[in-house]
Amino acid sequence: MVWKGSVATFSGLRVLADRALGNERKEAIAIVGDGHGALHSLRLKLQTTLSDLGEEGYRLKVDRSGVTISARKAAGVFYGLQTLRQLESVEHGRITVPCVDIADKPRFAWRGNMLDVSRHFFPKKDIEHFLDLLSQYKINTFHWHLVDDGGWRLQIRKYPKLTEVGAWRLPSDGTFPEYSGLTFPGAGESQKQYGGFYTQEDAREIVRYAASRHINIVPEIEMPGHNLAATMSYPWLICDPKLQPGFLKAEGFVFPNIFCAGKESTFKFVEDVLDEVMAIFPSRVIHIGGDEVDKYLWERCDDCKATMKREHLANSAQLESYFVRRVEKYVNAHGRHIIGWDEILEGGLAPNAYVMSWRGEAGGIEASKQHHFVVMTPWDQCYFDHSNLELPIDVILGYDPAPPSRGKEMARFVMGAQASIWTETLPDRRHIEDRLFPRILAMSEILWTNRRESTASFLDRLDRHLPTLYSNAPGLHLPAPRADLQVVAPGTGFNWHYPNIRGFTLRYTTDGSLPDHLSKPVPEPMIATSGERITAALVGDKGRRGDTGSVSAWDMEPVVADSISPGLRYRLYAGYFRTVPDFASLTSIQDGTTGQIKLMGDLKEHFALEFDGYLVINHPGRYTFLCGSDDGSVVWLGGLKMLDNDGSHGMLFRSVTLDLKAGAYPLKLGYFQQTEGAGLSFEVSGPGMPRQPVPPPMLYH
Ligand code: ACM
Ligand code: ZN
Repeated sequence: MVWKGSVATFSGLRVLADRALGNERKEAIAIVGDGHGALHSLRLKLQTTLSDLGEEGYRLKVDRSGVTISARKAAGVFYGLQTLRQLESVEHGRITVPCVDIADKPRFAWRGNMLDVSRHFFPKKDIEHFLDLLSQYKINTFHWHLVDDGGWRLQIRKYPKLTEVGAWRLPSDGTFPEYSGLTFPGAGESQKQYGGFYTQEDAREIVRYAASRHINIVPEIEMPGHNLAATMSYPWLICDPKLQPGFLKAEGFVFPNIFCAGKESTFKFVEDVLDEVMAIFPSRVIHIGGDEVDKYLWERCDDCKATMKREHLANSAQLESYFVRRVEKYVNAHGRHIIGWDEILEGGLAPNAYVMSWRGEAGGIEASKQHHFVVMTPWDQCYFDHSNLELPIDVILGYDPAPPSRGKEMARFVMGAQASIWTETLPDRRHIEDRLFPRILAMSEILWTNRRESTASFLDRLDRHLPTLYSNAPGLHLPAPRADLQVVAPGTGFNWHYPNIRGFTLRYTTDGSLPDHLSKPVPEPMIATSGERITAALVGDKGRRGDTGSVSAWDMEPVVADSISPGLRYRLYAGYFRTVPDFASLTSIQDGTTGQIKLMGDLKEHFALEFDGYLVINHPGRYTFLCGSDDGSVVWLGGLKMLDNDGSHGMLFRSVTLDLKAGAYPLKLGYFQQTEGAGLSFEVSGPGMPRQPVPPPMLYH
């Protein structure tokens, strides 16, 4: 087969690869143009002898005679094509690819993304759009969260009400009022309903679409909890169908969104549904949910209590375990495995279950100790519904789902990890793009490669790729421009690193305001005068603005500090703060010295802390400081507001890189805690110093 076209018309190439290699053919050749009339050959080869490349590995050779991609399996050829495309650059209309000889294969077999389509519904074309992009970054598993309180999204022929009723809710309070016998008090029936679902044919088409991009779809049919949409459709699924939703118990509201674990009718329903699900989805693994089951109703249900007695179950956790084991038996009998959220460990793990670790990593560690397969999606590192500020790229790049230090069991049983996106606050494609791109590229990086490159290397590569990604996913999150240093000597020139996206200009302000389309474009090099703080961001023709980066021009000089003593002074203040206060006007309730910047005193809420003294530098060089706080913090060094992490928020880190001479610099750190979670850390890395909390030998007063 010979095919003519440009490498840039990549979808054509993919079709070629599928057609050529799908029909038992072992080799296909395409002739590709470089846009300037020159033709090169592109050879795709299947070679069973390439056993060291595994199921998904490939070899990519580019030389003057053309491109050859060889692999054991079509998936490998597909990934070789993705790499080829990422190597392409277009200069003066000419497509070029560097000469390379790459042998490459993934570290992890489960490189995933979960999308919750229950809280918000995403039509088939959106799902295909995401799948197409995910596959380009070698993501091979799409975990499709089809069922939850917010809506049942998959047509089940035997239970039509699941989608006639359960796919349509009132947006205001999430109820399904018109059809079920159950209503929330005050549900307004006149309001427009929200929803949607996939027909079985839609789902089959999506499965085929994914398969042609080497993505396996793992359907999640959540049970026994998180099932308001199903129980509103068929109230006999709950322990007591007469229960009104939202009645009060001592600990809060009860939602009858849990299937009764004591009625055979529940198991019949679950098995019928799974029959239809397994007929649509060829996945070896079926997700059965299992998280956040409130056992309040089970503990008060005669049927559940009778089952516990009959099965000798000591408590309701064991009743959940019984439920999961029964479902597992059914799924195993059909040649499939179950995977469940890490709560399924609690009453004893079903014999063959895989575990998806989300409440941190503990569930995954425990399951691997018990020799069960694990997928990691700890919420701190992998929940992509968290904003780009809350979960920045460097945190993802720093994540290792199975670090060697955790031992052989993790290495053996952790299949991989996934980025999970819950959609309570994400109503449409644009919002998902903002959360998914470009962060999924970082997730792909840690799941595919063993090599740990620096964050700076990743961001530089990302800058080059972002224009392409933007053209495919215009809702993507626009990262902040980066300067090598965030504090520069006045009068010295510096440059920003940023992606050259068509329609966007890097603009800046010096008055603390956010750059907009009227702000000046950034010159190269940029020169700032003393005391100026430059704020820069990509600003689009249509007024869109990316994240901001800032650089201060400041003479950072050590001061004469005679007779200094170890430790910083600290003062604790009580009060209702919403930003880091002006401490001069306040009276402290406690003070002392400390060798470490951390939370001090016994207050849990409504307080502020002030640390001051000197930062002592013994080895001149380039230092990076990171301040993490929940809620806000601000750091001043040498009279400059060096880090601004102010405001009421969860744990957020800010960093600054600057050159420091040897000597002492006045240091001040302000922090406040409003309510709920509290946390404070101040870390440093520098010459010969790996990242660590700023150590006592650097802190004086
Ligand atoms: C979960 O986030 N409840 C799995
Ligand atoms: Zn019950």
